[in-house]
Amino acid sequence: MHTVADIITNLSLSVVILFVSRFLWNYARSPLKSFPGPSAAGFTNIWRLQDVFRGRCDITQTALHRKYGSAVRMGPNLLSLSDPNLISQVYNTKSPWLKSNMYNVNDVVVAGIRLSNLFSSQDEKWHSTFTRPVKTLYSMSKVQEVEDNMDITLNLFLDKLRERFVRPGKTCEMTDWISFFAWDAMSQVTFSQDLGIIEAGSDYKGFLGRSNQTLDYFASICQVPFLDKLFDKNPIMRIGPPTFVWANIFSLEQLQKRYQQGNPGNKQDFLAKFLEIKEKNPELVNDNVIILWLLSNVLAGSDSTAYTMCAAIYYVLKNPDVHKKLCDELRSANLTLPARWKDIQGLKYLEAVMRETMRAHPGVGLILERTVPKGGLSLPDGRVVPAGVTVGMNPWVINKDEGVFGANTDEFIPERWLQNPDEPEEVYQARFSKMKSTDFTFGAGSRTCLGRYLSQLESFKLIATLFSSFDMALPSQDHQWKVTNSWFVRQKNIPVRLSERKDEAIVV
Ligand code: HEM
Repeated sequence: MHTVADIITNLSLSVVILFVSRFLWNYARSPLKSFPGPSAAGFTNIWRLQDVFRGRCDITQTALHRKYGSAVRMGPNLLSLSDPNLISQVYNTKSPWLKSNMYNVNDVVVAGIRLSNLFSSQDEKWHSTFTRPVKTLYSMSKVQEVEDNMDITLNLFLDKLRERFVRPGKTCEMTDWISFFAWDAMSQVTFSQDLGIIEAGSDYKGFLGRSNQTLDYFASICQVPFLDKLFDKNPIMRIGPPTFVWANIFSLEQLQKRYQQGNPGNKQDFLAKFLEIKEKNPELVNDNVIILWLLSNVLAGSDSTAYTMCAAIYYVLKNPDVHKKLCDELRSANLTLPARWKDIQGLKYLEAVMRETMRAHPGVGLILERTVPKGGLSLPDGRVVPAGVTVGMNPWVINKDEGVFGANTDEFIPERWLQNPDEPEEVYQARFSKMKSTDFTFGAGSRTCLGRYLSQLESFKLIATLFSSFDMALPSQDHQWKVTNSWFVRQKNIPVRLSERKDEAIVV
């Protein structure tokens, strides 16, 4: 007669045997046995899941590349690459390498139907069909058409900072307020209506909190995508996490409101532009496609840009020399505020600060995985990675390449983007364009970030406006932020004291 204890012991033993066999099977079948990497990563993807879960896999991956070289095995079938010369091959535009299964963890299931988005889709044909009509709307010249909308949110933001922090002399937790700004600004340029977050001074609808939870889930689970079938896409009982369904509902409400009320004042927001495209291509674009496009703005564009702006503020305040040079340049530009793109696009030091911010602290911090196609990948040292293996690069690893970006890439040095006093013009131009084309902040190739110029417009304007409007300081020069890499690399703990600038910036 078996006791309950016996049954539990036998069950536990079976589970252990099952796992050990699976790990050994993974190792035996791994096509990457000859590549170096952490031993556990040769047996199971659970190694990388736990590394991502702990919140700083960018640090682990950078250290592993420094130890093992340019090709490191991060899982039985995943090879991380750090050679920038391979970017144009792995992320090419002509015959794009397919995104790996990590991405479809980002799909949502609505009424039993699995829906991909522009970011998650593994189907290049579907992706290009639905990206092509809107691509031009995101060029630098076109995104300037929404600059007036952005200024509405910028003005509101400045008012609230003055009301809540400058006048009462209180410290502002910048990570919160920049996120409030980024979400409201993205909603304003998309629908000509903000989310009311700045006004409330809190994440009163829970959008930001839920977005973080969803991304925490995505970052870890996409390391072992089959787990998604147990949790989010479980057909019997969905276990979690919170989904982005709220964003679908919000976007649908905005679309319906536009249909009912028309577009008084002929607003130049993204929704109006998407509806114009629908009118011209009724056979291709229905309301579901409009929602697909709206979601790209709301979900992909808010947090990513917020974290870039937070990083810029932190780095500038931590580096008094940089702070002074930036403020001097802004002061002599005599800007009207909020700063307009036409007035700031030529400011060399501002550009260097923003480029260096994105290099040193790219908004995305995981490996952007692709599947090696037929024919395999030949590495420059002669090793061959067989077809079917997942390979990829992490922006945090690529952006630290000292061969391209110069010495001390762990440090924030905007001057690396500027011409040295004794550097000939052609040498500088070649160095600059190599850095620019290697910078992996927005990915590369056919699936490069759609919204990079929109985020550039927003982040340059915000930083120029804030540093022109206020004197700002951290509690001390030794202050340390807290950084968590959860797909987007977010920060906490940037408390800033703000006071009105005493100089000549013109406010309109
Ligand atoms: C500083 C801010 C931003 C950063 C760092 C960033 C980063 C990235 C990266 C690295 C990718 C490539 C992902 C991959 O290859 O797996 C990407 C894709 C994407 N981003 Fe951004 N992004 C930012 C802002 C925005 C904004 C403002 C939008 C709004 C439209 C946006 C929309 C998208 C979309 C739709 C994709 C998917 C593109 C595709 O697969 O074709 N992003 N972004």
